[in-house]
Amino acid sequence: MAPMPTALTWPDRLIAAIDQGLRAVAAAPPMATRPSPAAALAEPVLSSDERRTSAALMRVNHAGEIAAQALYSGQALFARSPATHDLLSNAAREERDHLAWCAARIDELGGRTSLLTPLWYAGSFGIGVLAGLRADAESLGFVRETERQVETHLRDHLQRLPALDEKSAAILSRMAEDEMHHGTTAALAGGAELPAPIRGCMKVGGEILRRIALIV
Ligand SMILES: [Fe+2]
Ligand SMILES: [Fe+2]
Repeated sequence: MAPMPTALTWPDRLIAAIDQGLRAVAAAPPMATRPSPAAALAEPVLSSDERRTSAALMRVNHAGEIAAQALYSGQALFARSPATHDLLSNAAREERDHLAWCAARIDELGGRTSLLTPLWYAGSFGIGVLAGLRADAESLGFVRETERQVETHLRDHLQRLPALDEKSAAILSRMAEDEMHHGTTAALAGGAELPAPIRGCMKVGGEILRRIALIV
């Protein structure tokens, strides 16, 4: 059964947003509430090039999850209805699982997370606040479009992962399913289709993150 919407006060929301931000950019990755889809799979034997490629792709996905959490946290701050606030908070919680799974996989691959993590969080939080200041239908429309673009991106990364890296692939496949679910939930909750120019700007923003996080 879905949890009852909660009516949080402004100080509650602000404290929750600050807490989430500090946790997201802190050195220790969050605890996942669900086991990683990669947990039961054996570590594949990868060449050093394949390992580097996987680690770089997973770094991009980790940065994307940081951005998703920040977006939803910023949006939740200004959500008009308690139901919208709860939807955004629940989506952010699942994104934290994604973040933990990506962080653990990066560790296994001997890679590192993006050096620009605080920047991804701060920039995305600001964009989330702007989206959250709009009516709930538009804010939920932003979630719907974000999730659609992230799902497309994840399917692209699944093609680009080294074929033997089934562990990373299992994580990205589950994430893609979750993102599809988040997008559908937002659409069913009244998320409007955003105008094409906004969708285009979001694509450009996502592409900037993808290209930079691939390197740093
Ligand atoms: Fe996610
Ligand atoms: Fe999502």
